[in-house]
Amino acid sequence: MKFPYRLDKFISHFAEVPRSKAKQGIKRKHVEVNGEVIIKADHSVNEGDTVTWYGESINAVGKRYFMLNKPEGYVCANQDELHATVFDLLDEPLASQLQVAGRLDIDTTGLVLITSDGDWNHVLTSPRHQKYKTYLVECEMPITDDAIEQLENGVQLHNERELTKPAKVEKLADYAIRLSIYEGKYHQVKRMLAAVGNGVAALHREAIANIVLDDALAPGEYRALTESEIKLH
Ligand code: URA
Repeated sequence: MKFPYRLDKFISHFAEVPRSKAKQGIKRKHVEVNGEVIIKADHSVNEGDTVTWYGESINAVGKRYFMLNKPEGYVCANQDELHATVFDLLDEPLASQLQVAGRLDIDTTGLVLITSDGDWNHVLTSPRHQKYKTYLVECEMPITDDAIEQLENGVQLHNERELTKPAKVEKLADYAIRLSIYEGKYHQVKRMLAAVGNGVAALHREAIANIVLDDALAPGEYRALTESEIKLH
């Protein structure tokens, strides 16, 4: 189906209700297009129109999933008064329906997932589902075996009640580790490194669960996820 749609067909298709129910709702004044009550079932709905059905706006675009290679200097917020946001890098309609699944700090680079699917976002970000986020961490000081063991077992972060959940750590060089965690506390990696007496000189996210940052994406570029990436395993 393509725009323009008849209003009753639009509602039936995207709100997934029978056409007869759509017609009834329109007649009973439960439908607005761009803020105006419309009572004609054959009203034309154009691309970009906002249609509400019993007060809920209807999403005509379907669920959307993207990966972005975040450069430094961008914040992971829908709007920010001071800084550019990752949404400035996206050229997509209805961007206000999109949300970041697991924010990165302004100075962190790498994989950011952006979606309109709140349930999928929850699965990725809730520690209960144990979806690992993998970071390349450049440390301020040489990383010791003792620090690696502490990170693996869980460390005490400032102002937190419980130890961090067990992490996976791979030593890459004297000053570099690959760290995988499935929690996403505020500044978690930086605070974990501080807790073992080190610091983070640079931070880059390589992967979240089975979704690995595509090396064809230059900083600032993005692409839609594939079906198999969306499936999460
Ligand atoms: N941990 C941090 O400290 N910063 C990030 O951006 C991501 C994880």
